[in-house]
Amino acid sequence: MSTITFIHVDGTQETLTADGISVMRAAVQNGIRGIVGECGGQAMCATCHVYVDDPPASLPEMSEDEEEMLECTASPRQGASRLGCQLRATAHFDALTVRLPERQV
Ligand code: FES
Repeated sequence: MSTITFIHVDGTQETLTADGISVMRAAVQNGIRGIVGECGGQAMCATCHVYVDDPPASLPEMSEDEEEMLECTASPRQGASRLGCQLRATAHFDALTVRLPERQV
C-alpha cells in the first residue's frame, strides 16, 4: 500500500492510499480534480501530467513514449514532470507527493 499526496494549484492537499494502480488511476477513482486520464493510461494523452516532489530513486526511468508525451502537456513541462499513468503505487514508490499543473487540456 502506498500513500499519494496531491497538491492542488491553490495549495490544498488531498492524500489517499493505493495499491498496484497508477497515480492517474488512483486520482480518477477518488475524484481528485486536475487529473483527466483521457487515454486510460496508455501514455497517449498527457492529461495525467504531474510534477513529482522529491522523486524517490525507485521511480522507473522515463520511457520514450512518456518522454514524447511530456512535450505535449497543456501546462509547461518542468524538470519534475511525469505522466501519472506511468507511476504505479507499491511497485514504484511507497509514498509520493505530486503537484498538479494548472491545466491538463
Ligand atoms: Fe493518458 Fe497518462 S492517462 S498519458
